[in-house]
Amino acid sequence: MWDPGAQVARARGVQSLRSLGEALREVGFTEKETVRALSAEDPAELLSNAAFYAVCSAERVPELLTSAAGVMVQLFVRNGGVPADLYARTVPIALRGLLAELELVAERDGTVTSEVSVSPGRSMYLLSDQLFRGDASITMAGRSTLVMPPHASSFELLDNLGAVEGRLLDVGCGCGILALALRESCSSVVGVDLNPRAVAYSQVNALVNGLDADFLPADLRSGLAVGDLADHLVFNSPTGPTHHAETEIGWMSAEHALTFVAAAMPAVLRPGGTARVLLIVEVPEGAGAVTELVRTWVPGERDVQVAELRGSPLAVSATALARGRLDPGCLMADGMAGAARLVDHLRERRIREVVPTLVTIREADPVRR
Ligand SMILES: C[S@@+](CC[C@H](N)C(=O)[O-])C[C@H]1O[C@@H](n2cnc3c(N)ncnc32)[C@H](O)[C@@H]1O
Repeated sequence: MWDPGAQVARARGVQSLRSLGEALREVGFTEKETVRALSAEDPAELLSNAAFYAVCSAERVPELLTSAAGVMVQLFVRNGGVPADLYARTVPIALRGLLAELELVAERDGTVTSEVSVSPGRSMYLLSDQLFRGDASITMAGRSTLVMPPHASSFELLDNLGAVEGRLLDVGCGCGILALALRESCSSVVGVDLNPRAVAYSQVNALVNGLDADFLPADLRSGLAVGDLADHLVFNSPTGPTHHAETEIGWMSAEHALTFVAAAMPAVLRPGGTARVLLIVEVPEGAGAVTELVRTWVPGERDVQVAELRGSPLAVSATALARGRLDPGCLMADGMAGAARLVDHLRERRIREVVPTLVTIREADPVRR
């Protein structure tokens, strides 16, 4: 398995990582080109269904292998192999040198492969583990420490945040997408994650994208101690339908996620600072309004605002559940079989709907009272 921490620890690795983004951009490996090459609808949809696109685009591989950008898509998005002679002919020598130096590719029996996923997105390159290998076999299993590529939920949160300025704390940073995407508008960013491998990938991605950000391991459940008090906390929480509990690292119920954030806030946010949490809420049959349900999960007398993101591709509507079929464009399940499993699971547990929710909690400000 690729070791992101080892690359960050080596001076030579740091230098090479710093030049990787530019080298990938130079060969035209962009978000737009990747979406076009795999005929996806948009970047979020591609990222959420990457394994599906990998399988469906198998017949396009010969065409992909005619350009350096296409070879990058094959290696790092489809997670497939490239014949070594074609690799040498298509990819400029400088980029080949860099990828070899960083151990991002390896050649065996005449085929070049990678163990790392590279997602071009938001004008950045985000390295993470591969969740599937080659054309079909899903490798992600159980509660491993694999670091996921950015997901539709990452974009959902970013697109609904509005302006974020000042000092930012990104909780559960994963590959670092939120902290890095918000870096330019903030005076400083710190990301924390339970998974040390995620911390290392975030550090790698800060270097690749030339962004100054600190990442450290920390567990939200046992409180966070991360230096200066922040103005904003963001958390794309590992919540969702309970059957995600099997695969999502640190999965927690939406209620627990909010309770942990509320408990951690005084130690990490300045008075008046805000926590913004994306929760995927399972709403049981018979429950009242989602907003009221979510408010009851925040203890004390804090200012809590709840935005229900019902139009989101992460929602499962009550109508879809009644009909027994997910809405077109829903990204909560992979493929038809996954969608059917999700519907069965929710119905068995008497869930009325699944509502993505952006919760804003303001830390008490004694001066303004
Ligand atoms: C849904 S992912 C979000 C990753 C990334 N922020 C994004 O938006 O793509 C949730 C992240 O929370 C991390 N996590 C889970 N439980 C945690 C905990 N108790 N403390 C800190 N991080 C946690 C996971 O390791 C994972 O990286």
